[in-house]
Amino acid sequence: MPVPLYIQIREALTERIHSGEWTPGTRLPAERELCAEFGTSRMTVRQALGDLVANGLLTRQQGNGTFVAEPKIDTPAIPLQSFTVTMDRQGLAPGAKLIECKTISTTRELARLLKLKLGERVYRIVRLRTGNKQPIALEYSHFPARLCPGLDKFDLERRSIYRILEKEFNLVLVRADQTLEPTIARRFEAELLKVQEGAPLMLWERVSFTTDGTAVEYAKDLYRGDRTRFRLNLELPK
Ligand code: GLP
Repeated sequence: MPVPLYIQIREALTERIHSGEWTPGTRLPAERELCAEFGTSRMTVRQALGDLVANGLLTRQQGNGTFVAEPKIDTPAIPLQSFTVTMDRQGLAPGAKLIECKTISTTRELARLLKLKLGERVYRIVRLRTGNKQPIALEYSHFPARLCPGLDKFDLERRSIYRILEKEFNLVLVRADQTLEPTIARRFEAELLKVQEGAPLMLWERVSFTTDGTAVEYAKDLYRGDRTRFRLNLELPK
């Protein structure tokens, strides 16, 4: 089966964006011009453009046209670092909006992940994370209350939680178990992240530990698929 035409067009346009021929903010030629250039129907060109919008390479502005999007935030998946540090290193101003902050009793799953007894108290903190005021990720984080009593009293919109854990509770996170999988935005998440319901998101789940193996955090983070990508540097095992 040959590679469908709309995919070939999509790849050709991707190449123009990645090579810098079309820089962020460039307005795309009208659909009919692209049809003429590639010798295809409008439907085929639309399919290609639709994919690029979904992937975050292009953005549509109602009544204004289609433009090359800002490049994705290139985030190292390793090492273990906080959202604040990740944004700082990308030259973006980190921010947080507190959506929910309460204590809950551990469910069976939370107890297992955080190595707690069933029913022990846990802070559940939900924050919308921003980079230069743009929504990037939604974090659902959980911390055992007995390890960091009063965590909910700190300014969780202006301060890094990892810094608070370190400075105020002497909890230094040195290791984490983390998984990554694709998911889609539910309405609640879509509204906060300012994406369409059903848009692709990346789900990171992380359990973080101190040197003595104490589990301090269980986090479920949803990152916008159109604004971020994760970089992994691979090496042959020694
Ligand atoms: C990252 C991690 C989360 C962690 C957060 C802390 O997003 N994936 O598990 O809760 O950083 O960020 P900060 O210290 O900026 O509050």
